[in-house]
Amino acid sequence: MTLRRRLVLSIVALVVAVSAVIGAGSIIALASIQTGTIDGQLQKATSRASTKFGQGDPNGQRPNDDALQPLGQAAGTLTAYYVAGGGAGGIVLNDDGSRSFLSSAQLDRLGDVKVGVDPATMDLQGSLGRYRVAAVQVDNAGVGNAVLVVGLPMSPVYESVRSLLLVVILVVAAALVAASVVAAVVVRRSLRPLERVAETASTVARMPLERSDALQDVRVPDTDPRTEVGRVGSAFNRMLGHIAGAMQARERSEQKVRQFVADASHELRTPLASVRGYAELTRRMGGDLPKDVVYAMGRIESESIRMTSMVEDLLLLARLDEGREIQFDDVDLTGLVFDAVNDAHAASPEHPIEVDVPDSPVVVVGDAARLHQVIVNLVTNARTHTPDGTRITVGLAPSDSGSGVDLTVRDTGQGIDPEFLPKLFERFARADSSRSRSAGSTGLGLAIVDAVVQAHGGSVDVTSEPGDTVFTVHLPAEQPADAAAAATASPASPESTDAPAADTWSDVPNRT
Ligand SMILES: Nc1ncnc2c1ncn2[C@@H]1O[C@H](COP(=O)(O)OP(=O)(O)OP(=O)(O)O)[C@@H](O)[C@H]1O
Ligand SMILES: [Mg+2]
Repeated sequence: MTLRRRLVLSIVALVVAVSAVIGAGSIIALASIQTGTIDGQLQKATSRASTKFGQGDPNGQRPNDDALQPLGQAAGTLTAYYVAGGGAGGIVLNDDGSRSFLSSAQLDRLGDVKVGVDPATMDLQGSLGRYRVAAVQVDNAGVGNAVLVVGLPMSPVYESVRSLLLVVILVVAAALVAASVVAAVVVRRSLRPLERVAETASTVARMPLERSDALQDVRVPDTDPRTEVGRVGSAFNRMLGHIAGAMQARERSEQKVRQFVADASHELRTPLASVRGYAELTRRMGGDLPKDVVYAMGRIESESIRMTSMVEDLLLLARLDEGREIQFDDVDLTGLVFDAVNDAHAASPEHPIEVDVPDSPVVVVGDAARLHQVIVNLVTNARTHTPDGTRITVGLAPSDSGSGVDLTVRDTGQGIDPEFLPKLFERFARADSSRSRSAGSTGLGLAIVDAVVQAHGGSVDVTSEPGDTVFTVHLPAEQPADAAAAATASPASPESTDAPAADTWSDVPNRT
């Protein structure tokens, strides 16, 4: 049950309970006050009747009606007498002034009333109903010693109680309706600030908290420290501030690391180019040098080539991490596939490669050079991490999801160790096989594939079992929204200190 409903129900229940208690108290009080009044009237009626009856009938005859109902008795008053010798009788004064005799059953009942006790209520049945009755001893009346019982009807008390009960029921019903409406409005209004806090919290929960400025505009408006919700709101805002601060610190440190890697890779290119150049120069003069030195120079040259490629990969990854380096344009993926497959075929003719693409060109929005690199890296993996003769199939097809394109690179090699699969796209991740080491791999190829594809707003999946390994690159047909926004908001600034010079960066060699 929601807090709001619980509060409304509690308030309504409380109001109804209080009204019911007050109503019940009023009814009980009214009944007892009215009964007290009747008792007072009964005392007076008894004294009138006993005085008149006491005067007796000098003839010792049956007491006449006037003796039983003296002047001043109210309508409904009943009087019964019980003479010591055995005679008994009684009458009741009707509303119209006439008198009726009491039945013998009624006289029997009234005969039980004791002299000298407080008035009691008695049900006399028939048309009389409930009566308040009291008995008095009258000595030396003309008819001898007698007990006189006088009664007054209780119906006025019951009528008042019934009327009050009706009023109480109406008042409780009205209180129920009014309390429900007022409680619903008041509770809704009181809980609105809490709902705003909850809304802000769920907004934050839905946010992808990758960038610290994501939280910049998220604040709870209710921060009045005098209210409970205000205190929650201001604590929540402080917490958001702390989170944003922690994220900024993390971003700064990540930025520093990226910057360092980018700078270090950039700086390493020139000395590496010199090492490679001098090694090549020395090799060309091979005839004049001892064989060992020629061999050592060859190794220096090949390792420097490898190191250059590694440095280029690191630089590319650092740039992709910064969200740069991708230049969106219409790209014909079919052409890129054919280029990569032809290069691969030339590099290792012992791997049969098939191409499975639609007849019409498949065009996506992306960076041609980087997408070429993605295809080359995947095809190179299929070549270098599988035995000779392994069949490779490169396919292009419209995506199953309906929008975008799926590029698949499939091979019939030995497959990838399932334990290694979750780490496959991590940097420097290589399955621990001597073959991949000897092939001079660094474990950056798939990390680059992943980073490039993500920068295009796409995704890479892999399924692998012995004899069937499939890498599927899904590329959306559209440019990703954040890249488009970044492109319109801030055109690349050429002054930026770590921006690569156009000629040095855009021509990072593809890894073949
Ligand atoms: N088609 C494949 N068949 C079997 N193993 C594969 C395949 N593709 C990748 N791998 C495994 O995944 C590892 C990581 O691949 P990745 O391309 O990232 O690095 P690499 O090929 O080892 O080095 P680099 O591509 O940087 O030269 C490889 O070392 C290899 O063990
Ligand atoms: Mg590779």
